Formats: sequence, structure tokens, C-alpha cells
Amino acid sequence: MAQLWGGRFTKETDQLVYNFNASITFDQKFYRQDIKGSIAHVKMLAASGILTEEEKDQILAGLSGILRDVEEGTLEISSKYEDIHSFVEATLIDRIGDAGKKLHTGRSRNDQVALDMKLYIRDEIGEMKELLITLMKVLQRIMEENVDTYMPGFTHLQKAQPLTLAHHIGAYMEMFKRDFGRLFDIYDRMNYCPLGSGALAGTTYPLDREMTASLLSFYGPTLNSMDSVADRDYLIELLSAMSTIMMHLSRFCEEIIIWNTNEYQFVDIDDAYSTGSSIMPQKKNPDIAELVRGKTGRVYGALMSILTTMKGLPLAYNKDMQEDKELTFDAIDTVKGCLALFTGMVDTMSFRKKVMADSAKNGFTNATDAADYLVNHGVPFRDAHGIVGRLVLTCIHKGISLDELSLEEYKEISPVFEEDIYEAISLKTCVEKRNTIGAPGQEAMRKVIEINRAFLEEISC
Ligand code: ARG
Repeated sequence: MAQLWGGRFTKETDQLVYNFNASITFDQKFYRQDIKGSIAHVKMLAASGILTEEEKDQILAGLSGILRDVEEGTLEISSKYEDIHSFVEATLIDRIGDAGKKLHTGRSRNDQVALDMKLYIRDEIGEMKELLITLMKVLQRIMEENVDTYMPGFTHLQKAQPLTLAHHIGAYMEMFKRDFGRLFDIYDRMNYCPLGSGALAGTTYPLDREMTASLLSFYGPTLNSMDSVADRDYLIELLSAMSTIMMHLSRFCEEIIIWNTNEYQFVDIDDAYSTGSSIMPQKKNPDIAELVRGKTGRVYGALMSILTTMKGLPLAYNKDMQEDKELTFDAIDTVKGCLALFTGMVDTMSFRKKVMADSAKNGFTNATDAADYLVNHGVPFRDAHGIVGRLVLTCIHKGISLDELSLEEYKEISPVFEEDIYEAISLKTCVEKRNTIGAPGQEAMRKVIEINRAFLEEISC
């Protein structure tokens, strides 16, 4: 047992209590951020005249040495310490002696852990943004290559109207663009430095909080010391944004799983991203898509967990808040893993264009366009709807599609039909006539692809 406190105690902590209370097994994940925060704190203490230049140099050299040795694997983060903060401070004192005991001047573990977590989350948001950019670039490529790859669009999982693969992928592109924006917003809102808030009521030292904030690239210091040590809103926002990312990935996975079924055969998941069965030699399963869909629950669970943990906590710090770490770390690792794997799967997936187009041709996806044809020839829409409904029924009885009916058969139901009906209900016409912005027609799609290209350029630099 190695802890930073003990002076007012007359007994050793019970071992089980110690183990239950300790956080080193998981908060060692942010040793880099802890040391980085301490370096900024020490520079500020010296600039404010609280430490001498000599003490500052000694502590900075000690902290850099600890960082280097942990990175190189020559210094092991030992779980005999209560938490990462105690480990760093105790190791520093071991190495440089008395000057090390001054590191914690004007600081509490409450503002320290609030800082470490924010620094860690900032780095992780950066990584998630990169992963989202990589995914969006893959989607953009697929869109560019498939502005004329026809496929059925669905409502109620029933064929509805024809569209293109570019348009379908473009729907997800919009979702991921918003996901990216959400990460951006969270970063912007959370980027204020809690260091200097002390345990809850600030400190009596003349700390320069602007200086530590700026050394650590925050926009400025937080404005209320109680809020600073008690705020976990940004984690709730982040877990909510990550849950939304997972929800989008999960919906996309569900579609890929459907598209990959023997019945649909719209896509072929690459062998490198598929798995086999131990008993059925013919099987090639979409396990990655299923796992991403499955892991969504874990991230939702983390969001629910932290919302519940926070709901009854009086101000300011309470130990309950230590529970924010494991679940957030797990959720971040899950989202990062899912984004990377999903991107690889989609990037290597092949699309069976002919199967998709044939599927769009069957299932009367052009029925609305047949009705529109009549409307363009003066028939009121409600009547046109009824006429085409009867044509569809005839086709169902005969087992054919609308474009296989003869002109006589069309005319039997409505004399308004002429030879140009075939052109009007061809797959190409059905899609290409839809050219208002946001629709699947090529002209409209190309405009959106251009907007996406500019967006991706802007966020990539
Ligand atoms: N491990 C603690 C946490 O994660 C650090 C803060 C400890 N503060 C305290 N007052 N016990 O919340």
C-alpha cells in the first residue's frame, strides 16, 4: 500500500478497502497526460514565485525522466500505488528528494484528475476525428464511383423507388458528417482548464491559471472551482456522441448484413473481413458487421452508467466520479476499434452492380413514375394512383414487370398511355429525373459530392 495521505490515521487501511478504492489499474492509462499537466503546473509555480528556478529545473528533469522511462519500459507503473498521481509523485520524490515534495503545491487530486481526464479526452477526440475522416474518404470514393449504380430504395424493407448506390452511401455520409461536427462541438465546449481549482475552493497561492491554461493549449481557465472538479458533462456529451456514431455504424452494418445474404447478394464482403464456420464448410459470415452492431450496446451502456452515477451527486467532488474512467476508456476503445474495422470492411467490399440494378427493375419501383406519367398527361394524381395499381395487379398475375406489359395492355386500362411510357418508366429515367438537391439523380449527386469534397479537404488540414 502506498498512498499520499495517512497523517491523521491511526490504523493501516484494510487491504480490501485499499483495493476497492484504488484506481491505478485503470488510471495509469493517462500517465502521459498526468506528467504533462504536472510540467505545466511546475512551470507556472516557478513563474509565480512559488518555486525557485532551481527547484523547477530539478522537478522538470525528474518528470521528463519518469515519462521517458515509462515509455521505454524501464520503469513499471506499479499497482502498489493508489493511483497514477501517487505513482508519479512518489517516484519523483524517490528520484530527486525534497524538491519533489513541492510538486503538489497549490493542487489537489481533484483538479489534477479533472485535468488529466480532459487532456486524455482531447487526445482521443482527435483520434476519433481522424478515424471518421478516413471512413468518410472511403465513402466519398464509393459515391464518386457509383453515381449510376442503380439499386432499389426501401421503405419498410419493401422495395419503394429506384435510386443509386452513391445516394444510399451518401445518406450515411451525412450522418458521419454530423457525428464529426458533434465531436468538434464537444471539444470546443470542454476546452477550459480546471487546474488551479484545488480540492473545490481554489487555493491561497497566487497561481497564474491563465498561464497553465495557455501552456496546455486550453482556451482559458474554468470559471468556477466547484464546477471544475465536479463537471463530467463533457463525458456525457462525448458518450452520447459516441453512442450516435455506434448507432449509425450499427444501422449501416445491419444493411450490409442484409445485402450480403444469399437472398440479396448485393455485396461481397472481402475474405479478409469474413469468417468461416467450424462445421459448415460453405459458410462465409459477416462477423465484423455483426460485432460492430453488437458492440453498440456496450457504448450505450456506458452512457447510461455515467448519467446514473452523476444524477444524485452533491457538489463538489465525490468518489463516485472515479467510476467515469473505466467505462469511458472502454467506450472510446470500442468506438475506435469499430470505426477502424468498419472502414476496412467497407473499403474492401465489392458491390454486385448487376444484381442491384436487376433488383431495382423488379418489385415495381417505377410505379410512382408510371403514375407521374399520367399526371403529366392531365390525369389527377389520385386517379393515376388507381390506374397504376390495377396495372401492377395485372403484372403480379402474369409474373412480369411494368415495362414488360404491351402497349395494348396499358391502353386497356387507360387510353392516355403512349409508346413513350417505356422510356418514362425505365430505371435510368426514374433516377435521372430526380435532380433536386438531395435526390439521387446524377446532376444532384455530383453537386453533393463536390460539397463533400470541399468539406473533407477543409477538415483534413
Ligand atoms: N482516483 C480519483 C478519481 O478518479 C482521483 C481523485 C481523488 N480525489 C479524492 N478526493 N479522493 O476520481
